[in-house]
Amino acid sequence: MADNTQTVLTSSSLTTLRKIAEGKVRDLYEVDDKTLLFVASDRISAYDVIMDNGVPSKGVLLTLLSAHWFSVLSAQIPNLKTHFLTLSLPPSIPSSQVPLLKNRSMQVRKLKIFPIEAIVRGYITGSAWKEYQRTSTVHGIPMKAGLRESEAFPQGAIYTPSTKAEAGQNDQNIHPDEAAVIVGPKYAQRIQDLAIQLYTTARDYAAQRGLIIADTKFEFGLDEETDEVVLVDEVLTPDSSRFWPADKYEVGREQQSYDKQFLRDWLTKEGLKGKQGVRMPDEVVRETAGKYREAFEKLTGRKWTDVVDE
Ligand SMILES: Nc1ncnc2c1ncn2[C@@H]1O[C@H](COP(=O)(O)OP(=O)(O)O)[C@@H](O)[C@H]1O
Ligand SMILES: [Mg+2]
Repeated sequence: MADNTQTVLTSSSLTTLRKIAEGKVRDLYEVDDKTLLFVASDRISAYDVIMDNGVPSKGVLLTLLSAHWFSVLSAQIPNLKTHFLTLSLPPSIPSSQVPLLKNRSMQVRKLKIFPIEAIVRGYITGSAWKEYQRTSTVHGIPMKAGLRESEAFPQGAIYTPSTKAEAGQNDQNIHPDEAAVIVGPKYAQRIQDLAIQLYTTARDYAAQRGLIIADTKFEFGLDEETDEVVLVDEVLTPDSSRFWPADKYEVGREQQSYDKQFLRDWLTKEGLKGKQGVRMPDEVVRETAGKYREAFEKLTGRKWTDVVDE
């Protein structure tokens, strides 16, 4: 039976729906004035640049993992609102396009997106570790002296937002007070509280499955009818999060993560960091796909081969 899981989809074009936006990874189509079809391609970006080739089935993995999290988080957080509607395709999709879109698309509520990235960090790594070494702060928040690389923040998870840059620009880390200026004080607190609650719920869930969520990024939208803050976008995938194997975790060094780290390291080593027009060699694609699949299997308890056979 034909399935879409071995196809590498780097760009989509649907004949019956209007494309309203193309992100680094997703193509957004309008189903009706309240609903979007959110299609995850196999594109991969690193340091805000999209690679020329894709990672096979990555969009399927991101979509099914996000759907899994929407269900886990909604069950554990009363009153959580999410944009997720269904994995089913709208009836207007012609049957010829169903195999390509199946399992890599979700219908979501179309919302006004708050222009910040709600990053939550449980452990000090990446840009936060770099900033801390320079200034003893993380996103401008003073931190106690003597933290070691990859250590859990002693005060618990911290909310460290960034700007949500226009296409082609880089997101900038900002202090929570600056995020409050961008979204307004009314929504800033709700976004911060929700982001921390989502992270801690997910962190505890992942911990039971042998995985550390070092940090992650959420996005939120506003339901203008009810004035509610709604969880949108992808959630807790290897694209938006740093996942570390708990059994290999050791403070005082970098961790081997289930995410884009292999790709980032390769780009840095080859002097290609931030450059356009890069084609990943097969080995980098294979390694990255393998890491993503390990994270998927640990978090969902499903075998990837069962998913791709479906
Ligand atoms: N429910 C929604 N309604 C409208 N836009 C959304 C919704 N959920 C996510 N988005 C937006 O869709 C885009 C997702 O595509 P993606 O490829 O991840 O983009 P980016 O390059 O900005 O990360 C993001 O810009 C995100 O803000
Ligand atoms: Mg994105």
